[in-house]
Amino acid sequence: MEFKFTEENLKKIEEVLKKYPEKKPAVMPVLYIAQEQNGFISGEAMAEVASVLEMTKEDVLGVVTFYTMFHQKPVGKYHLQVCTNVSCMLRGGYRIYDYVREKLKIENGGLTEDNLFSLEEVECMGSCGTAPMIAVNEDFYENLDLEKVDQILESLKQKN
Ligand code: FES
Repeated sequence: MEFKFTEENLKKIEEVLKKYPEKKPAVMPVLYIAQEQNGFISGEAMAEVASVLEMTKEDVLGVVTFYTMFHQKPVGKYHLQVCTNVSCMLRGGYRIYDYVREKLKIENGGLTEDNLFSLEEVECMGSCGTAPMIAVNEDFYENLDLEKVDQILESLKQKN
């Protein structure tokens, strides 16, 4: 589906670009604006970001695939990123990941039917000292056990 930045977002991008001596280093905030507008970074959104920043689409793709905060397909209102890297794994990260998977009945990359939750198994998110952890959108939940995971999921459901 075609993607063009809204007038409002083009103005935001103009403001972002003022902070950088050249366009390319603004790729992260501009991608973030694209994701906010579109819900995820589609191929068309990537092409638009590349065009606005005078970059190649491949360079933009490299950034999108490197950072777990950018999504290449639709995600739920609550995007759960469960870390299973070493520190989290040693402290039950896989138990938590499997628990969330079974509880929500979705696999890695999946989205619940009500579009409320999506799940992603991720590498270290820099919160190893408080492992195991999950991120829900931008919020980190740390030192988790299955009971706490239940409470988090329930409280998110209650909000809707
Ligand atoms: S290993 Fe999970 S946050 Fe670092």
